[in-house]
Amino acid sequence: MKLLMRISLLISISVLVSGCQEEAKLPEKSVFKEDETVQDEEPLKIGFAMDTLKEERWLKDRELFEQAIESRGLEVEIAAANGDDALQIAQAEEMIQEGIDLLVIVPHNAEATAAIVHKAHGAGIKVIAYDRLVKNAEIDLYVSFDNEQVGKLQAEEMLKLVPEGNYVYIGGAPTDNNAHLLKKGVFDVLQPAIERGDIHIIYDEWTEDWAPEQAFAHMLEALEINGNQIDAVIAANDATAGGAIEALAQAGLAGAIPVAGQDAELAAVQRIVDGTQTMTVYKPIQQLSERVAALAVDLAQGNAIEPTASINNGKSEVPSVLLEPIAVDIGNLESTVFADHFHSAEEIDGME
Ligand code: BGC
Repeated sequence: MKLLMRISLLISISVLVSGCQEEAKLPEKSVFKEDETVQDEEPLKIGFAMDTLKEERWLKDRELFEQAIESRGLEVEIAAANGDDALQIAQAEEMIQEGIDLLVIVPHNAEATAAIVHKAHGAGIKVIAYDRLVKNAEIDLYVSFDNEQVGKLQAEEMLKLVPEGNYVYIGGAPTDNNAHLLKKGVFDVLQPAIERGDIHIIYDEWTEDWAPEQAFAHMLEALEINGNQIDAVIAANDATAGGAIEALAQAGLAGAIPVAGQDAELAAVQRIVDGTQTMTVYKPIQQLSERVAALAVDLAQGNAIEPTASINNGKSEVPSVLLEPIAVDIGNLESTVFADHFHSAEEIDGME
């Protein structure tokens, strides 16, 4: 009995206290401007629903996007779903319920995340697809690097080095629209050489969830099927390139066969310096995060935005902004990745 009374007393006190706090907070939230209307001064809140933090780049995305939003006086709520569709949907739903003003999403699955877009729109919240497109939903904006161009840069550099021979393509995750764009870019460039019979695609596989272990297994398989007769490897990103290079190393071929990747991850830059990876494609994440933050503020405030492209996602023509990726090899590491402080030369063995 006594205990019950004490609990109910405590509850009443805490209700009273929180009531007072609410009242105390009120003047901060609302101020009267000259025109006598009540202005809501609470900062806009942006939700950032990320797929994964597995690849190094996403840690940069998280940090730089948070900075870019906060430097504009806005708040940001961030969640990462570890490649789990159901979790990503639940995390975004929670943000919507908590009353975010705009949702920025890096979809794990291009199709599955359409459900989130519908939920957000139902609550009057606009959605920006960050780096990866959401398919079959009326998203408000898509901001990324030109992913077809990433693939083109890879294929152009490999074709220069290996104009004739056997090529292996280690693709990205089939559930990620970028993986399809990258592949299109690569094959658009390779096609004439394939038709001439100069190059042969002797192995071509997707990599579930961009997993390096699977890329490793695929590369081993490619080596085995072709009796090690491989002249070039194009991998959809540096993580998969790393897996492929491990398989090459196991066959005693690391450094002997050119390999292309993407992301300019620290490990890939190290491999470029070591000579086991030929090139990567650098995408300045700072540019992406800054651009999305600026556009997020505009969209959330209802300002007009100026897209640079329009991309059909199966449902609508999505206003899009595509940034330029940069091909990087040993010749321009200094003037790109290091000059931008994306990585510093001190982080790399053998650079002193
Ligand atoms: C991104 C790449 C990244 C990959 C795996 C793609 O959508 O564009 O930069 O390496 O996902 O996370």
